[in-house]
Amino acid sequence: SVLEMEVEQINKGNYEHYMQKEIHEQPESLKTTMRGRLIRGGSCKAKTVLLGGLKDHLKTIRRSRRIVFIGCGTSYNAALAARPILEELSGVPVTMEIASDLLDRQGPIYREDTAVFVSQSGETADTLLALEYALENGALCVGITNTVGSAIARHTHCGIHINAGCEIGVASTKAYTSQIVVMAMLALAIGGDTISNQARREAVIDGLFDLPNNVREVLKLDQEMKDLAKLLVAEQSLLVFGRGYNYATALEGALKVKEVALMHSEGILAGEMKHGPLALVDENLPIVVIATRDACFSKQQSVIQQLHARKGRLIVMCSKGDANAVCLGGSCRIIEVPQVEDCLQPVVNIIPLQLLAYHLTVLRGFNVDQPRNLAKSVTTQ
Ligand code: AGP
Repeated sequence: SVLEMEVEQINKGNYEHYMQKEIHEQPESLKTTMRGRLIRGGSCKAKTVLLGGLKDHLKTIRRSRRIVFIGCGTSYNAALAARPILEELSGVPVTMEIASDLLDRQGPIYREDTAVFVSQSGETADTLLALEYALENGALCVGITNTVGSAIARHTHCGIHINAGCEIGVASTKAYTSQIVVMAMLALAIGGDTISNQARREAVIDGLFDLPNNVREVLKLDQEMKDLAKLLVAEQSLLVFGRGYNYATALEGALKVKEVALMHSEGILAGEMKHGPLALVDENLPIVVIATRDACFSKQQSVIQQLHARKGRLIVMCSKGDANAVCLGGSCRIIEVPQVEDCLQPVVNIIPLQLLAYHLTVLRGFNVDQPRNLAKSVTTQ
């Protein structure tokens, strides 16, 4: 009806689509996610994290034999992005499970495990069934959802709300970045204050405080991503290479491109390049390489050189000022992003790829907010 259409227009504000609105909302949604949870006191007060819903369970989580992340799609990717910092700060082994695969295998889950269920909607059937399975096996079950009162929020023993605000576009964008931030705060909470990790903790907390501004900065790439989308609009396929903290960025960027722009796209772990994907490389296939500064940087530099040697058509995402350092001996298009604390870099790096997927979709004339064949929450198996 006309009224429904008008209400929709009001909800979208100045944006044409919910996905676009939700991408641009991220400086605010990230703030809401952190509000009241990150404390940076005066000179004598330590920097700490307060997660009310977890405080009675932190000891148990610290003592668990392993932490298992369980989710689907984008929620799985968010957990993958947070895994390294959780392993680093907690010292507890962290394993990853796609919910349907855990169920297919009836994989081992033990009483000594902490199982963390990540879901924007809190209603995804596979994730919910995996939760029932983990409860039967006696694991401590933690929920990370964006929907208060959702099935996953209700059935877990404890949890953390994502607080990203309602997400309407089928493609998850602001929930993804807020999920990563929630799991980084989880890592800080589980890690606790030890002298050995104090400097790192403080750097991560400072990085979290600065994140909304850095996200505002990277959103300025909107026009640049639109130009890139014009260049790629008629392509059949797009590869995305990442590693370390940004392996998840590669998977998530590719997921966005395929689900909304209906273009084949694949996220590839750069360390696997020589074990198969290199055979695809020629002068036509566009390849995004994520090469922002972190401990894997020099390895990514050599990946770029090897792709150049195969005449690869490269689009390199690098830290500001690094264009020359990443594009030695070949031509490539550059996406420069602000550098943040390494474990938080995935929050910044996904944004140009969200924008790219968005603009590709608009240019290709597809439905941005409701891609064909997909539903916002997948409540059947
Ligand atoms: C994300 O863009 C997708 N629509 C999809 O992968 C989604 O993340 C997945 O279905 C899981 O949903 P959930 O987070 O609500 O559990």
